[in-house]
Amino acid sequence: MTDRPRVFVFRKVPFSDRIAEILGPVADLTFHETEDPPPEAMVRAALPEVAALLPTALDPVTAAMMGAAPRLKVVGNYGVGYNNVDVAAATRRRIPVTNTPGVLTEATADTTWALIMAVTRRTLEADAFVRAGKFDGWRASLFPGMELAGRTLGIIGLGSIGQAVARRGLGFGMRVAYAGRRRAAPEVEAALQARFAPLEGLLGQADILSLHCPLSAETRHLLDARRLALMKPTAYLINTARGPVVEERALVEALRAGRIAGAALDVYEDEPRLAPGLAELHNVVLFPHIGSSTLEAREGMARLVAENIRAALAGRRPLNIVNPEAWRA
Ligand code: 8YV
Repeated sequence: MTDRPRVFVFRKVPFSDRIAEILGPVADLTFHETEDPPPEAMVRAALPEVAALLPTALDPVTAAMMGAAPRLKVVGNYGVGYNNVDVAAATRRRIPVTNTPGVLTEATADTTWALIMAVTRRTLEADAFVRAGKFDGWRASLFPGMELAGRTLGIIGLGSIGQAVARRGLGFGMRVAYAGRRRAAPEVEAALQARFAPLEGLLGQADILSLHCPLSAETRHLLDARRLALMKPTAYLINTARGPVVEERALVEALRAGRIAGAALDVYEDEPRLAPGLAELHNVVLFPHIGSSTLEAREGMARLVAENIRAALAGRRPLNIVNPEAWRA
């Protein structure tokens, strides 16, 4: 036993050595050594002594867990989304919750565009066709797609990732429109030539509808059957945010019925399970939640999560605190 604070790291992540380098000098680290979620018993055993929890965005941190961790000083989330943490419960206990914004913005915007290009130009179908030995000569009719120039890129949630996606859209000659809880700053709107629209208006205008809002009680099933029906039949839905923002069964129905042209998803409602029928559809592209998976972003995330925890353990205000009201000066 030492007096040094204990940090519980829920999963093996790339650049764990950066985490150890930053936190090792000031804390005792317990790493769950695999990429799978840690066994419940392991988490339960760690809680009584732990000063910091380092979950990924797929690891729930509940009020009960915090209640069982009397020494807990900080929850350092590995990821920008933090819907896995009961932030209200943390705030009540005056436990700061931190996340890792910024370092994964460009990676996630790139992934969003990989999905947009893949689904509108049918690149995966085309690749599979060649690999299957079906390419027996050029034909003008092969895999017609949709052009992007002059079309409307509709963004729900014009935060930093939404903005990075919009910037790329300008390069493709697209018009940018967006909906969200609040309006972006005038200089952001001006730089992106972005038009603010009420959500339901945006649904009727967007040729590409890309989701970049956090998951919350308000955004759960934001796109349900009724709202999906407001989209253009020629439009594509892209989701690199959180699966439950879309009612996945309703999406499968809409795709089957041709109510929208296609969808490209990086996240799922009940990850890693897919809604029945989703994987059988030809007009979808499915990625395994790799939005921020670049070496650059992963290194940044490891560094930032560790720096946030180190600051909180030292009594300094962490850089990326999502519940500032929990911070006691
Ligand atoms: C992560 C993410 O890869 O940051 C987020 O919110 O969804 C992804 O970038 C993953 O969730 C890490 O915890």
